[in-house]
Amino acid sequence: MTSEPLPTATTPGPGAAADSRPNVARMYDYYLGGCHNFAIDRAAARQVLEIFPDTGVAAQTNRAFLRRAVRHAVEQGVRQFLDIGAGLPTQGNVHEVVQSIAPDSRVVYVDYDEVAVAYARQLLGDAARTVVVEGDLRRPDELLAHPDVTASIDFTRPVAVLLVAVLHFVPDAEDPYAAVARLRDATVPGSRLLLSHLTLDGAPPLPAQQGRAVYQQSTAPLVPRTRADILRFFDGYELVEPGLAWLADWRPDGEPQAGVSHGFGGVGVRR
Ligand SMILES: C[S@@+](CC[C@H](N)C(=O)[O-])C[C@H]1O[C@@H](n2cnc3c(N)ncnc32)[C@H](O)[C@@H]1O
Repeated sequence: MTSEPLPTATTPGPGAAADSRPNVARMYDYYLGGCHNFAIDRAAARQVLEIFPDTGVAAQTNRAFLRRAVRHAVEQGVRQFLDIGAGLPTQGNVHEVVQSIAPDSRVVYVDYDEVAVAYARQLLGDAARTVVVEGDLRRPDELLAHPDVTASIDFTRPVAVLLVAVLHFVPDAEDPYAAVARLRDATVPGSRLLLSHLTLDGAPPLPAQQGRAVYQQSTAPLVPRTRADILRFFDGYELVEPGLAWLADWRPDGEPQAGVSHGFGGVGVRR
Protein backbone atom coordinates (compact mmCIF):
# COMPACT_ATOMS: atom_id res chain seq x y z
CA MET A 1 0.00 0.00 0.00
CA THR A 2 1.27 3.47 -0.81
CA SER A 3 1.01 6.53 1.38
CA GLU A 4 1.40 9.39 -1.08
CA PRO A 5 -0.21 12.67 -0.04
CA LEU A 6 -3.83 12.83 -1.06
CA PRO A 7 -5.49 15.51 -3.13
CA THR A 8 -7.72 17.90 -1.28
CA ALA A 9 -10.28 20.33 -2.60
CA THR A 10 -7.52 22.92 -2.93
CA THR A 11 -4.67 20.63 -3.96
CA PRO A 12 -5.12 19.07 -7.38
CA GLY A 13 -4.47 15.36 -7.12
CA PRO A 14 -3.29 12.78 -9.62
CA GLY A 15 -5.23 13.26 -12.81
CA ALA A 16 -6.94 16.42 -11.65
CA ALA A 17 -4.56 18.76 -13.42
CA ALA A 18 -4.76 16.79 -16.63
CA ASP A 19 -8.53 16.45 -16.53
CA SER A 20 -10.61 19.40 -15.48
CA ARG A 21 -13.96 17.72 -16.12
CA PRO A 22 -16.32 16.66 -13.32
CA ASN A 23 -15.28 13.17 -12.29
CA VAL A 24 -17.93 10.45 -12.04
CA ALA A 25 -16.26 8.68 -9.10
CA ARG A 26 -16.14 11.90 -7.09
CA MET A 27 -19.68 12.95 -8.08
CA TYR A 28 -20.88 9.62 -6.70
CA ASP A 29 -18.83 10.23 -3.54
CA TYR A 30 -20.66 13.55 -3.18
CA TYR A 31 -24.09 11.88 -3.60
CA LEU A 32 -23.10 9.51 -0.78
CA GLY A 33 -22.15 12.41 1.49
CA GLY A 34 -18.39 11.83 1.14
CA CYS A 35 -15.72 14.52 1.21
CA HIS A 36 -13.36 13.26 -1.51
CA ASN A 37 -14.57 15.60 -4.22
CA PHE A 38 -13.65 18.91 -5.82
CA ALA A 39 -15.76 22.01 -6.48
CA ILE A 40 -16.20 21.05 -10.13
CA ASP A 41 -17.55 17.61 -9.11
CA ARG A 42 -19.92 19.14 -6.57
CA ALA A 43 -21.25 21.66 -9.09
CA ALA A 44 -22.09 18.91 -11.59
CA ALA A 45 -23.54 16.67 -8.87
CA ARG A 46 -25.76 19.51 -7.67
CA GLN A 47 -27.06 19.94 -11.22
CA VAL A 48 -28.02 16.25 -11.24
CA LEU A 49 -29.63 16.61 -7.80
CA GLU A 50 -31.74 19.48 -9.10
CA ILE A 51 -33.02 17.24 -11.89
CA PHE A 52 -33.30 14.05 -9.78
CA PRO A 53 -33.49 15.17 -6.12
CA ASP A 54 -33.46 11.58 -4.85
CA THR A 55 -30.11 10.72 -6.46
CA GLY A 56 -28.38 10.60 -3.06
CA VAL A 57 -30.93 8.15 -1.72
CA ALA A 58 -30.67 6.11 -4.90
CA ALA A 59 -26.88 5.93 -4.43
CA GLN A 60 -27.41 4.68 -0.86
CA THR A 61 -29.89 2.12 -2.21
CA ASN A 62 -27.22 0.93 -4.64
CA ARG A 63 -24.67 0.58 -1.81
CA ALA A 64 -27.20 -1.38 0.27
CA PHE A 65 -27.74 -3.73 -2.70
CA LEU A 66 -23.96 -4.18 -3.00
CA ARG A 67 -23.67 -5.12 0.69
CA ARG A 68 -26.54 -7.63 0.50
CA ALA A 69 -25.25 -9.21 -2.70
CA VAL A 70 -21.73 -9.51 -1.27
CA ARG A 71 -22.99 -10.97 2.01
CA HIS A 72 -25.07 -13.48 0.05
CA ALA A 73 -22.01 -14.56 -1.97
CA VAL A 74 -19.88 -15.07 1.17
CA GLU A 75 -22.67 -17.04 2.79
CA GLN A 76 -22.72 -19.25 -0.32
CA GLY A 77 -19.02 -19.98 0.20
CA VAL A 78 -17.30 -17.54 -2.19
CA ARG A 79 -13.99 -16.28 -0.77
CA GLN A 80 -12.56 -14.19 -3.63
CA PHE A 81 -13.97 -10.86 -4.80
CA LEU A 82 -12.96 -8.83 -7.84
CA ASP A 83 -14.69 -5.45 -7.52
CA ILE A 84 -14.37 -3.59 -10.84
CA GLY A 85 -15.35 0.09 -10.83
CA ALA A 86 -14.96 0.01 -7.06
CA GLY A 87 -14.88 3.81 -6.66
CA LEU A 88 -13.82 5.62 -3.52
CA PRO A 89 -13.96 3.76 -0.23
CA THR A 90 -17.07 4.58 1.78
CA GLN A 91 -18.99 2.92 4.59
CA GLY A 92 -19.56 -0.84 4.35
CA ASN A 93 -16.80 -1.53 1.86
CA VAL A 94 -16.68 -4.93 0.21
CA HIS A 95 -13.68 -6.18 2.23
CA GLU A 96 -15.33 -5.12 5.49
CA VAL A 97 -18.57 -6.98 4.71
CA VAL A 98 -16.75 -10.04 3.38
CA GLN A 99 -14.08 -10.31 6.05
CA SER A 100 -16.54 -9.75 8.90
CA ILE A 101 -18.02 -13.12 7.89
CA ALA A 102 -14.99 -14.92 6.42
CA PRO A 103 -11.74 -13.18 7.45
CA ASP A 104 -9.63 -15.30 5.10
CA SER A 105 -11.37 -13.86 2.01
CA ARG A 106 -9.48 -11.84 -0.59
CA VAL A 107 -10.71 -8.64 -2.19
CA VAL A 108 -9.26 -6.89 -5.22
CA TYR A 109 -10.57 -3.40 -5.89
CA VAL A 110 -10.17 -2.12 -9.45
CA ASP A 111 -10.87 1.31 -10.84
CA TYR A 112 -9.60 3.15 -13.91
CA ASP A 113 -9.61 6.47 -12.12
CA GLU A 114 -6.19 7.23 -10.69
CA VAL A 115 -7.58 9.59 -8.06
CA ALA A 116 -10.02 6.93 -6.83
CA VAL A 117 -7.17 4.42 -6.75
CA ALA A 118 -4.89 6.79 -4.80
CA TYR A 119 -7.61 7.51 -2.25
CA ALA A 120 -8.52 3.84 -1.98
CA ARG A 121 -4.90 2.87 -1.30
CA GLN A 122 -4.61 5.56 1.34
CA LEU A 123 -7.93 4.94 3.04
CA LEU A 124 -7.63 1.17 3.04
CA GLY A 125 -4.10 1.38 4.45
CA ASP A 126 -2.73 -2.09 4.99
CA ALA A 127 -6.06 -3.90 5.21
CA ALA A 128 -5.26 -7.59 5.07
CA ARG A 129 -5.87 -9.61 1.91
CA THR A 130 -7.07 -6.48 0.12
CA VAL A 131 -5.40 -4.79 -2.85
CA VAL A 132 -6.24 -1.85 -5.07
CA VAL A 133 -5.43 -2.05 -8.76
CA GLU A 134 -5.64 0.55 -11.49
CA GLY A 135 -7.39 -1.18 -14.38
CA ASP A 136 -10.02 -0.68 -17.03
CA LEU A 137 -13.09 -2.84 -17.45
CA ARG A 138 -12.93 -2.15 -21.17
CA ARG A 139 -9.57 -3.96 -21.31
CA PRO A 140 -10.38 -7.20 -19.48
CA ASP A 141 -7.33 -9.11 -20.73
CA GLU A 142 -4.97 -6.53 -19.25
CA LEU A 143 -6.98 -6.43 -16.06
CA LEU A 144 -6.98 -10.21 -15.65
CA ALA A 145 -3.23 -10.37 -16.32
CA HIS A 146 -2.33 -7.62 -13.83
CA PRO A 147 0.24 -9.07 -11.38
CA ASP A 148 -1.72 -7.93 -8.31
CA VAL A 149 -4.83 -9.62 -9.68
CA THR A 150 -3.10 -12.89 -10.50
CA ALA A 151 -1.29 -12.84 -7.12
CA SER A 152 -4.57 -12.42 -5.21
CA ILE A 153 -7.16 -14.36 -7.18
CA ASP A 154 -7.02 -18.07 -7.86
CA PHE A 155 -9.06 -18.41 -11.04
CA THR A 156 -9.34 -22.19 -10.60
CA ARG A 157 -11.71 -21.47 -7.71
CA PRO A 158 -15.00 -19.51 -7.66
CA VAL A 159 -14.72 -15.73 -7.82
CA ALA A 160 -17.39 -13.10 -7.34
CA VAL A 161 -16.98 -10.42 -9.99
CA LEU A 162 -18.63 -7.15 -8.99
CA LEU A 163 -19.77 -4.76 -11.68
CA VAL A 164 -21.80 -2.49 -9.47
CA ALA A 165 -22.91 0.83 -10.96
CA VAL A 166 -20.11 0.80 -13.51
CA LEU A 167 -21.42 -0.65 -16.77
CA HIS A 168 -23.63 2.39 -17.30
CA PHE A 169 -20.42 4.30 -17.99
CA VAL A 170 -19.49 2.03 -20.90
CA PRO A 171 -21.26 2.79 -24.19
CA ASP A 172 -22.23 -0.04 -26.55
CA ALA A 173 -19.56 1.20 -28.99
CA GLU A 174 -16.94 0.08 -26.42
CA ASP A 175 -18.53 -3.38 -26.29
CA PRO A 176 -19.28 -3.88 -22.60
CA TYR A 177 -21.00 -7.20 -23.41
CA ALA A 178 -17.74 -8.65 -24.77
CA ALA A 179 -15.85 -7.42 -21.68
CA VAL A 180 -18.35 -9.05 -19.32
CA ALA A 181 -18.22 -12.28 -21.35
CA ARG A 182 -14.40 -12.26 -21.18
CA LEU A 183 -14.54 -11.91 -17.39
CA ARG A 184 -17.11 -14.72 -17.22
CA ASP A 185 -14.91 -17.00 -19.34
CA ALA A 186 -11.96 -16.38 -17.01
CA THR A 187 -13.92 -17.81 -14.07
CA VAL A 188 -15.00 -21.34 -13.18
CA PRO A 189 -18.58 -22.59 -12.74
CA GLY A 190 -19.95 -21.54 -9.36
CA SER A 191 -18.42 -18.07 -9.76
CA ARG A 192 -20.76 -15.12 -9.50
CA LEU A 193 -21.59 -11.90 -11.25
CA LEU A 194 -22.88 -9.18 -8.90
CA LEU A 195 -24.24 -6.41 -11.07
CA SER A 196 -26.22 -3.21 -10.74
CA HIS A 197 -27.04 -0.81 -13.55
CA LEU A 198 -28.82 2.48 -13.98
CA THR A 199 -32.03 2.48 -15.99
CA LEU A 200 -34.32 5.23 -17.13
CA ASP A 201 -37.17 2.74 -17.56
CA GLY A 202 -40.16 4.64 -16.26
CA ALA A 203 -38.33 7.99 -15.98
CA PRO A 204 -39.85 11.04 -17.70
CA PRO A 205 -37.92 11.77 -20.95
CA LEU A 206 -36.98 15.42 -20.38
CA PRO A 207 -35.28 15.04 -16.96
CA ALA A 208 -33.59 11.89 -18.27
CA GLN A 209 -32.18 13.86 -21.18
CA GLN A 210 -31.06 16.69 -18.86
CA GLY A 211 -29.34 14.26 -16.50
CA ARG A 212 -27.45 12.65 -19.36
CA ALA A 213 -26.42 16.10 -20.62
CA VAL A 214 -24.67 16.82 -17.29
CA TYR A 215 -22.70 13.56 -17.53
CA GLN A 216 -21.84 14.35 -21.15
CA GLN A 217 -19.49 17.03 -19.71
CA SER A 218 -17.95 14.63 -17.17
CA THR A 219 -15.19 12.00 -17.35
CA ALA A 220 -17.66 9.33 -18.56
CA PRO A 221 -20.93 9.54 -20.45
CA LEU A 222 -23.96 8.01 -18.79
CA VAL A 223 -25.50 5.06 -20.62
CA PRO A 224 -28.69 3.97 -18.88
CA ARG A 225 -30.05 0.69 -20.30
CA THR A 226 -33.40 -1.03 -20.38
CA ARG A 227 -34.06 -4.03 -18.16
CA ALA A 228 -33.90 -6.31 -21.23
CA ASP A 229 -30.46 -4.97 -22.20
CA ILE A 230 -29.15 -5.27 -18.63
CA LEU A 231 -30.36 -8.87 -18.51
CA ARG A 232 -28.10 -9.70 -21.49
CA PHE A 233 -25.02 -9.15 -19.27
CA PHE A 234 -26.03 -12.35 -17.42
CA ASP A 235 -25.57 -14.53 -20.48
CA GLY A 236 -24.02 -17.81 -19.22
CA TYR A 237 -25.18 -17.21 -15.65
CA GLU A 238 -28.16 -18.53 -13.72
CA LEU A 239 -29.85 -15.69 -11.85
CA VAL A 240 -30.51 -16.31 -8.17
CA GLU A 241 -33.93 -15.36 -6.78
CA PRO A 242 -35.53 -12.86 -7.29
CA GLY A 243 -33.72 -12.42 -10.63
CA LEU A 244 -32.94 -8.99 -12.00
CA ALA A 245 -34.93 -6.71 -9.72
CA TRP A 246 -35.24 -3.05 -8.76
CA LEU A 247 -32.32 -2.54 -6.41
CA ALA A 248 -34.40 -2.03 -3.28
CA ASP A 249 -36.34 -5.22 -4.03
CA TRP A 250 -33.34 -7.53 -4.35
CA ARG A 251 -33.48 -9.69 -1.21
CA PRO A 252 -34.27 -6.86 1.25
CA ASP A 253 -32.87 -7.80 4.63
CA GLY A 254 -34.75 -5.50 6.93
CA GLU A 255 -31.86 -3.02 7.08
CA PRO A 256 -33.50 0.43 7.06
CA GLN A 257 -33.37 1.89 3.57
CA ALA A 258 -35.27 4.63 1.79
CA GLY A 259 -35.62 2.31 -1.18
CA VAL A 260 -35.37 4.64 -4.15
CA SER A 261 -34.22 2.54 -7.10
CA HIS A 262 -32.96 4.14 -10.27
CA GLY A 263 -31.54 0.85 -11.38
CA PHE A 264 -31.73 -2.90 -11.50
CA GLY A 265 -29.55 -5.36 -9.66
CA GLY A 266 -29.00 -9.07 -9.84
CA VAL A 267 -26.65 -11.92 -8.99
CA GLY A 268 -25.82 -14.67 -11.43
CA VAL A 269 -24.07 -17.97 -10.79
CA ARG A 270 -21.82 -19.13 -13.62
CA ARG A 271 -23.04 -22.34 -15.20
C1 LIG B 1 -20.82 5.15 -9.55
S1 LIG B 1 -19.22 4.61 -9.08
C2 LIG B 1 -19.63 3.02 -8.36
C3 LIG B 1 -18.74 2.64 -7.20
C4 LIG B 1 -19.12 1.33 -6.52
N1 LIG B 1 -19.00 0.21 -7.46
C5 LIG B 1 -20.53 1.39 -5.98
O1 LIG B 1 -21.44 0.88 -6.64
O2 LIG B 1 -20.73 1.95 -4.92
C6 LIG B 1 -18.56 4.10 -10.67
C7 LIG B 1 -17.07 3.83 -10.65
O3 LIG B 1 -16.72 3.13 -11.85
C8 LIG B 1 -15.47 3.61 -12.29
N2 LIG B 1 -15.37 3.30 -13.73
C9 LIG B 1 -16.09 3.83 -14.75
N3 LIG B 1 -15.71 3.28 -15.92
C10 LIG B 1 -14.74 2.36 -15.62
C11 LIG B 1 -13.94 1.47 -16.41
N4 LIG B 1 -14.06 1.41 -17.74
N5 LIG B 1 -13.05 0.67 -15.78
C12 LIG B 1 -12.91 0.74 -14.42
N6 LIG B 1 -13.62 1.58 -13.63
C13 LIG B 1 -14.52 2.37 -14.23
C14 LIG B 1 -15.51 5.10 -11.97
O4 LIG B 1 -14.21 5.64 -11.91
C15 LIG B 1 -16.21 5.08 -10.63
O5 LIG B 1 -15.29 4.98 -9.57
